[in-house]
Amino acid sequence: MQILVTGGTGYIGSHTCVSLIEAGHSVIIADNLSNSRYEVVSIIEQITGQRVIFYEVDVTEEAAIAEIFSKHKIDGVIHFAGLKSVGESVEKPLLYYKNNLLSTMILTDACIKYGVNRFVFSSSATVYGENDVPFEESMTLKPTTNPYGETKVMSERILTDVVQSNPELGVMLLRYFNPVGAHESGLIGEAPNGIPNNLMPFVTQVAKGKLPKLHVFGDNYPTVDGTGVRDYIHVVDLAEGHVTAIEQVTRGVRIYNLGTGRGTSVLELVKTFEEANNIEVPYEIIERRLGDIASCYANVKKAKKELGWVAKRDLIAMCKDSWHFEKK
Ligand code: WQD
Repeated sequence: MQILVTGGTGYIGSHTCVSLIEAGHSVIIADNLSNSRYEVVSIIEQITGQRVIFYEVDVTEEAAIAEIFSKHKIDGVIHFAGLKSVGESVEKPLLYYKNNLLSTMILTDACIKYGVNRFVFSSSATVYGENDVPFEESMTLKPTTNPYGETKVMSERILTDVVQSNPELGVMLLRYFNPVGAHESGLIGEAPNGIPNNLMPFVTQVAKGKLPKLHVFGDNYPTVDGTGVRDYIHVVDLAEGHVTAIEQVTRGVRIYNLGTGRGTSVLELVKTFEEANNIEVPYEIIERRLGDIASCYANVKKAKKELGWVAKRDLIAMCKDSWHFEKK
């Protein structure tokens, strides 16, 4: 199939493009390069040996999106493009609502106009809000702590309503947890602009000496060692989950957690990283970060049962691959 991947030069998008091509599909990337680099296109071609069609567009530009749909036969869309910083969304809510909701509406509208019936949406575990772990797809969502999370809840609702009025359309809502790691080549990985928000890129930059030490945001949570617990999933497992989803789309809306089902604390991750890579990661415990929850990890039964998908790579592989990418 020919798949349009929005945000395809980003961290998860680029890994998904590689996995799509390796599964025999072809890829068109639409990305505005606001948080990624054009070089990633040629790196994807280098890794896979296949050409990639690239459009530097903002997915909120309706005319630009229509042009892509009119020029190519698109069999499915995987929509990653979006703003995703929890902290920034609190400071700039309108930017987040406009960008993340408009892009979803414009893409869905184009799919209906051009008869594209496969849509995979990049959602997030954030939508569960303060539910009890492990998070399950059937849970009633609770308010999230930030506009970013709300844009994911609202996008899921928009897509659900659109499917009601367009029974031909099939939508997969993929709620992922904490993606980490990198492709085994070390050529693509998580390369945030500026100081990393997320834990793993911060750890790798400390290990490399680019940052002096890791600040651990609080050790007084009700968890195994007091630090935050998350479900870290290898980005290649996540990419493969997207390939499975786009291939298995059926009419209607289906929701899946993409996680490992295992919770890991910040200090457990740091220790695993140090042992896996035989390197020191100095850290200091400081106060909690606003908006953080104590524990977040997935019930992964549904994706295994209905899609036949499970995460295969363990935390040691995630730590080794993240470090391999950072060193490159
Ligand atoms: C993980 C743990 C922190 C940095 C966010 C978004 C989520 C998704 C993934 C988009 C927490 C602790 C972190 C640091 C630390 N993004 N931490 N020091 O917050 O679980 O999820 O990124 O889809 O939507 O919410 O990820 O990597 O920021 O934090 O102690 O310098 O590491 O407190 O417990 P998070 P994270």
